[in-house]
Order: sequence, then structure tokens, then C-alpha cells
Amino acid sequence: MARRSLLVSLAALVVIGVGGAAAALAWHPALPPAERPAAASFDPALVKRGATLAALGNCAGCHSAPGRPPLAGGLPVETPFGAVYASNITPDTEAGIGHWSEAAFRRAMRDGVDRDGRNLYPAFPYNHYTLVTDDDDAALYAYLMTREAADSAVPSPALPFPLNVRAVMAGWNLLFFRPGTYAPDPARGPDWNRGAYLVEGLGHCGACHTPHGPLGEEKAGEHLAGGAAEGWTAYALNGASPAPVPWTVDAMALYLRHGWQAEHGVARGPMALVTANLGRVPEADARAMATYLVSLMGRGAEPAPPAAKPGLPPASAGSQVAVAAGNGRGAALYAGACASCHEAGRALPYGGLALALSTALHAPDPTNLVVVTLHGLAAPVGAGGPIMPGFAGALDDDDLAALLSYLRGDIAKAPAWPDLPATIRRVRARDATLVASDGTGTAPADPQVRIAR
Ligand code: HEC
Ligand code: HEC
Ligand code: HEC
Repeated sequence: MARRSLLVSLAALVVIGVGGAAAALAWHPALPPAERPAAASFDPALVKRGATLAALGNCAGCHSAPGRPPLAGGLPVETPFGAVYASNITPDTEAGIGHWSEAAFRRAMRDGVDRDGRNLYPAFPYNHYTLVTDDDDAALYAYLMTREAADSAVPSPALPFPLNVRAVMAGWNLLFFRPGTYAPDPARGPDWNRGAYLVEGLGHCGACHTPHGPLGEEKAGEHLAGGAAEGWTAYALNGASPAPVPWTVDAMALYLRHGWQAEHGVARGPMALVTANLGRVPEADARAMATYLVSLMGRGAEPAPPAAKPGLPPASAGSQVAVAAGNGRGAALYAGACASCHEAGRALPYGGLALALSTALHAPDPTNLVVVTLHGLAAPVGAGGPIMPGFAGALDDDDLAALLSYLRGDIAKAPAWPDLPATIRRVRARDATLVASDGTGTAPADPQVRIAR
């Protein structure tokens, strides 16, 4: 509560501080209501391209809520200040955007302003979507306008004063928002530029992977340096990437489309949704995004650190346990509860990755390791039991601390996490969003592809 009121007073300060300058920017004209275009008036090829772009932008991830028609909104998008409900973006003329012209839609994407001229909240990632070209906005518009109309209404944002006044967002925009489409970098090739356009724009990867400041902004100077989402850590995707095996373009392109890669494991939590969507985009787009991100990781010139490519554990289970004299309790728990899957050499992705390869053990914070160990991993949609059971009932907080310290110290060979006990208590108290890892459902069946990097 104290934190929230601090944030609110900060927000109020910003409003007062930049209020004058923002007043001029706060006003946008309402755009006239358009006749709802007939679905048949759109070129099917354009609609198809729009569907791919909607997958890249994960529009359904926020705008489709369980128990409601697709794209009819209603899902609360949490912000530090309160929930903002995703709008109904079906072509219904009352509850949705049926009366929006293409120009009104483009203005929402580019400037974060609705048809009535009111500011939208950046819970809608217009700070990224502003980069989208007119052509791609036209395809997205064609896709949305040819969906089934749904008349479901959406609740108003649950924000405290002064943030409930939409005009306040003009101050936020003045401070943090730079509108305008993507400007290609002429020094880079077409693949890199395509990747940057998709990652920074529609993909809005920074919304989770960049740390946020007190006003919910993505911190300048810490681009893709690692953030948080829905109770999970979204690892750094820049030079600070904690992945123990450095990402290659091939490995990342495969991971993004299949939600899984042999030397990096599965995409979990909110990332599982992202990769499930990316499974529907052209291979070339995933490769372009990987080209861009691997270049940001910038390991190019430096040799990889010696421990960067851990070997797979020997086939005989328990061999790592023998050398771990320091933390006997953790080693014993690992041998009893984990090694049977994680060292058994069963076919991936269902066999369990050798944990030395898992980013979760090497990350600067233990959140994801705690979430996975407590809650396990749900089966891909359509499959039977869980792919990994949760241990919330079997291990108490002390057991868990001993086990995870062992994984960190003896398997990852990294310095202890100072905040491990506090993280364990926090994750236990919170009902982490456990998205079924549908990504693994699209893991290639061919084992040769599975081990390819
Ligand atoms: C991270 C969640 C999120 C994603 C992803 C997202 N949106 Fe939204 N969107 C929202 C929220 C929340 C609002 C409501 C904002 C408000 O009330 O100010 C919104 C509002 C909108 C609006 C304004 C509608 C109106 O009636 O005012 C449009 C148009 C829109 N989104 C289109 C899209 C499209 C197209 C995509 C995919 C390319 C997309 N959104 C992806 C969260 C999201
Ligand atoms: C809604 C939040 C969210 C969005 C948006 C998002 N990610 Fe993630 N991402 C995560 C989380 C959380 C993890 C950690 C998942 C895990 O532990 O399996 C992750 C993990 C990853 C990883 C694995 C990193 C590693 O070293 O193991 C890659 C690569 C990645 N994301 C790329 C992307 C790209 C590219 C985009 C944009 C297209 C993106 N992410 C968008 C939340 C997000
Ligand atoms: C029944 C088999 C099984 C058992 C038992 C099991 N796991 Fe898993 N685990 C899996 C599978 C399958 C995956 C998903 C594939 C992958 O990424 O490794 C997984 C994934 C993980 C991951 C994520 C790896 C990554 O980065 O992708 C962690 C961390 C993990 N397990 C830790 C544990 C710990 C700690 C224990 C013991 C308390 C344990 N597991 C017990 C099967 C198991």
C-alpha cells in the first residue's frame, strides 16, 4: 500500500511538472465514425498477412479472455497502479471497433489515442506498436475487421486518481514516448533490420525483457537488460544474457518457433504463449529476430568464458552427487527427486534438460527456478499428465533452499543467491501464472532436428 501511494504521488508530481507542456499535446480530435466495412471488401491475402502480424504482436494474448469470445477483451492487464482491461477489438459497432476507420486504428497503434481522441494507457504497448508501418497496420485492420463481432462490454480501468484521468497520459507520453515508424539502420543488413523491426515493434519483447521504472516506463539505458512478467523473470536478451550456452542464431530461431531447444530447454510461463504464437510466423521472421537479438548479445569478438559450455552429465545417474560433499542435504534431495528425470538421458523435450544447461540456474535471480520446482510444468495442450510434477507439497522451505543452493553452487558453479529464502516465500505466497507450455507441443518430432542448433 505504502509503495502504491508513493507511486501515486510520484505520478502526481510528474503530472504537475510536465502538465503545462503536456496540455497542448493532450488534445486530439475525435475521428468521425466510419461505416463498418463489409468483410468481403478486404483482399483475403491481406487478411492472411494480418493474421500472421497479429500472432507476432500477440494481440490475442491480451485481448482474448477465457470464457469470452475471441478478441472481445475483458482481460485485466496488471500495472503497478491497478488493472487496465483490454478493449473489445472485434468489429462490433457498439462494444468493439466496428465504427473505426483505418485511420483511427492506425492512430491508436501509432500514437496511443482512441477514436474519440482520448489517450490510451501504455498497458496497450503502443510505445512499441508505433514502429509498425502503414502497410502492416492496414493488414492488421483487415484482419480485425473480418473477425466475428462480439457485443461483450469491458470494465473501466481500475486506476486511482489522478491516473484515472486519461489526459494525464499526455505527461507520460511527453517523458517516455517517441512516436514514429521504424527507421532502418543503413549500416545493417535486411535480416537484422527486419529482426529489429519485429522485436522492437510488434513483438514488444521489451515490455517484459526491459526493466521498468517507477512510472511503468521501460528504463532508458537498460534496453532488454532483463525484466519481470506475471511472477516470472524475463531474462536479459542483451550482453547480460545469463544463458550458460551462448545463444546462436540457429538455436534462437528454433526456440522462438518451437518453444524449446536442446541446449536451452523449454519456454515457460508467459514466454510459452509468445512462442506458441511465433510457431505460426514464417521461419524467416523468427530467424531475423534471432539475428538481431544475438547481435545485441554481442559476444562476437570475445571468446566465450571457459565454463560457458558445460558438458552433458555422464549417463550414470548420481555421479554429480558423489562429488558434492558441501551440501549433503541438497545433493540427497536432488538425487532422490530430480536426477531420475534430469540425468536419465531420456529423449528431449520430455526427458528433462541436464540442469547445467538451464538458464534458470544461472540467472541473477532465482525466481524462475523456484516457480518451476514448486509448481512443475503443465502438459502441452492436448497431452496427458504434467511433463514435470510440482514439489510444493513434497518440499518445505528449508528443503527447497538446500536443494536450490546445491543446484546453484554445485551444478551451475555460480555464487549463492542472497535472496533465495525470501524468493521462496514470495513465490509460495503468490499464485504464479502457470501457462501450459504449449511450445513443447510444437517441438519437432524428428530427434535430428531436436539436437540441431
Ligand atoms: C500487453 C497487452 C496487450 C497486447 C499484447 C495488445 N493489446 Fe491492445 N490493448 C490493451 C489494453 C489494456 C487496452 C486498453 C487500453 C486503455 O483502456 O487505455 C488496449 C486497447 C487497444 C485498442 C484501443 C481500442 C479502444 O476501443 O479504445 C486497440 C485498437 C488495440 N488495443 C489493438 C491491439 C492490437 C491490434 C494488438 C496486436 C498487434 C494489441 N492490441 C495487443 C492491451 C494489449
Ligand atoms: C509477456 C512477457 C514476455 C514477452 C512479451 C516476451 N517474453 Fe521472452 N521471456 C519471458 C519470460 C518470463 C521468460 C523466461 C521463461 C522461462 O523461464 O522459460 C522469457 C524467456 C525468453 C528467452 C529465453 C532466454 C534464455 O536465455 O533462456 C528468449 C530467447 C526470449 N524470451 C525471447 C523473446 C522475444 C524475441 C520476445 C519478443 C518476440 C519475447 N521474448 C517476448 C517473457 C516474455
Ligand atoms: C518426471 C520427470 C521430472 C522430475 C522428477 C523433475 N523434472 Fe524438472 N523437468 C522435467 C521436464 C520434462 C522438463 C522440461 C524440459 C526441460 O526444459 O528440461 C523439466 C524442466 C525443469 C527445469 C527447467 C529447465 C529449463 O531451463 O528449460 C528446471 C529448472 C527443473 N526441471 C528442475 C527440477 C528440479 C529441481 C527437480 C527436482 C526437485 C525436477 N526438475 C524434477 C522433468 C522432471
